[in-house]
Amino acid sequence: MVEFALPPNSRVQPGKVFKAAGAKNVKVFKIYRYDPDANANPRLDSYEIDLDNCGPMVLDALLKIKNEIDSTLTFRRSCREGICGSCAMNIDGTNTLACLKPIEDIKGEAAIYPLPHMPVVKDLIPDLTLPYAQLASIKPWMQTQSPTPPDGERLQSPEEREKLDGLWECILCFCCQTSCPSYWWNGDRYLGPSVLLQAARWILDSRDEMTGERLDDLDDPFKLYRCHTIMNCTKTCPKGLNPAKAIGAIKDKIAERRI
Ligand code: SF4
Ligand code: SF4
Ligand code: FES
Repeated sequence: MVEFALPPNSRVQPGKVFKAAGAKNVKVFKIYRYDPDANANPRLDSYEIDLDNCGPMVLDALLKIKNEIDSTLTFRRSCREGICGSCAMNIDGTNTLACLKPIEDIKGEAAIYPLPHMPVVKDLIPDLTLPYAQLASIKPWMQTQSPTPPDGERLQSPEEREKLDGLWECILCFCCQTSCPSYWWNGDRYLGPSVLLQAARWILDSRDEMTGERLDDLDDPFKLYRCHTIMNCTKTCPKGLNPAKAIGAIKDKIAERRI
């Protein structure tokens, strides 16, 4: 049987331990640390957190660590209410948003890593250059050719608008993108579930007038058809969306054109 192993300089080493002196209600957070300037392997630091003096979410614990224990810990966050998508990370084995993940849902020690299979900039910050370039490639904005109505906006019926439900709510956290095995293996050519859900959002918008061109661009063995309906994307989405269904809708549109 073939055995795979990380290259020696990628193996995660045991790290520092930060004790919570005098605390009675302690939870341990084991957090991936990587400093590109340190010329050292990544490590797993352990932080004891006094839950009697901490907010309820994993992001609260991370902020407590940064503010009170170890200011070198680096992670993205902004809105702290599941809107900006920036605090996406792998918590307790699942990609999710730190601000929406209750600490009490984690049994035992809390293991926190960056989103998987992406280059790491520092600690919990993945390099998202590739998925953002892929997002730009699908032109995620409304494209029209007809003149704008002189006396108003481009209107939709309630039924047309309803087709965008389950798509417009995406916050581009890339939890699904980085949970997809097809994206892990072919991320350079497969667009991935986050980007394809965004593509579906414009393909299904009745006001967009470049549907044919959008479908032409996606009708490609790698960009679209590397999705094998494994469904990790849908399982992990912290907003309860269904990227696999959106990808299926694009495939249906392409199939309809061939009839
Ligand atoms: S359904 Fe498609 S996009 Fe979603 S995880 Fe599976 S292969 Fe990836
Ligand atoms: S579909 Fe869900 S998991 Fe994927 S980027 Fe959008 S909000 Fe995040
Ligand atoms: S901080 Fe904005 S989604 Fe978590």
